[in-house]
Amino acid sequence: MVVHDKIRLIVLRTSCFPRRSPLGRLTNIHNCLKYSPMPLRKVAIFDDLSERLRSEVNPYVAQLKTRSSDPAFPALYGPALRGRLGQWRGYFAERRRDKQSPQQLVLEIGMHKGKTLTAMTAAHPSWAFLAMDITYKRVMITAERMQALGRDNVCAILGDARHCPELFAPRELDGVLVFFPDPWSKKKGQLHNRLLTPEFCAQLSRLLAEEGFFWLKTDCANYFAAVAGFFDGCPSMESSQEAPVNLEGQRSVFEERFLKAEVPIFQGIWRKKAAQSVATA
Ligand SMILES: C[S@@+](CC[C@H](N)C(=O)[O-])C[C@H]1O[C@@H](n2cnc3c(N)ncnc32)[C@H](O)[C@@H]1O
Repeated sequence: MVVHDKIRLIVLRTSCFPRRSPLGRLTNIHNCLKYSPMPLRKVAIFDDLSERLRSEVNPYVAQLKTRSSDPAFPALYGPALRGRLGQWRGYFAERRRDKQSPQQLVLEIGMHKGKTLTAMTAAHPSWAFLAMDITYKRVMITAERMQALGRDNVCAILGDARHCPELFAPRELDGVLVFFPDPWSKKKGQLHNRLLTPEFCAQLSRLLAEEGFFWLKTDCANYFAAVAGFFDGCPSMESSQEAPVNLEGQRSVFEERFLKAEVPIFQGIWRKKAAQSVATA
């Protein structure tokens, strides 16, 4: 009994279930262990994980499955992502009311509940935005928000951004934004979980078109230094001062939090050089 209580306490402390769980409280450990707050890490991008997750613990699993079966709903995941590599402009030309191919194709990694996306999609109606996140809840909320606003230039993707090279062709993207990636710096030995490794940054730079941008904001000084070190040393990229997207003065959710707490924020913007200038450099 004592052991059971101890385990239960640990489970509750790890808060590995939604705060407003439909269960109200955990009934047993088994329920909790079936659910992970980041279920999509290390899962193949074209797999449908929803069958393996408990809908009664995470209601967004079933909701996303049902809603995304409607092609008008701006969310994609699992098998529905197959065959999209190199085809995203055509996908948006079909979705958009004016049937035009987007002028720019921008990816936001870790869009949370779509606050920044709401501003960007309004400021740039002729562009298209893909937004990726690893939780069913955030993808579902973002897609619902975009649909309610009538945006035809956006799609939320459920998946780990590490799979970007399976989703996008080289030079397919005109920009990538990563605002406040999880820093994984609270505990020792967590750094390997960081998304923006030199390998991943190199992959992203290959996916960028000429003059395409990479925009990072973070509160984590050593994470910023590591990423800046990579892009500053990358012959195909150069640092830029100009904001590549109009955010309409909006701050992201985490940016707002850090500013309120007076935590310093680091940001960098890099542009991919034209192939010619790389060759002659
Ligand atoms: C700290 S929050 C920042 C949210 C938002 N960008 C902001 O600035 O307010 C990090 C976000 O990245 C998402 N995320 C974490 N790892 C990811 C990954 N490997 N691929 C895609 N999204 C990821 C999280 O689910 C979360 O929404």
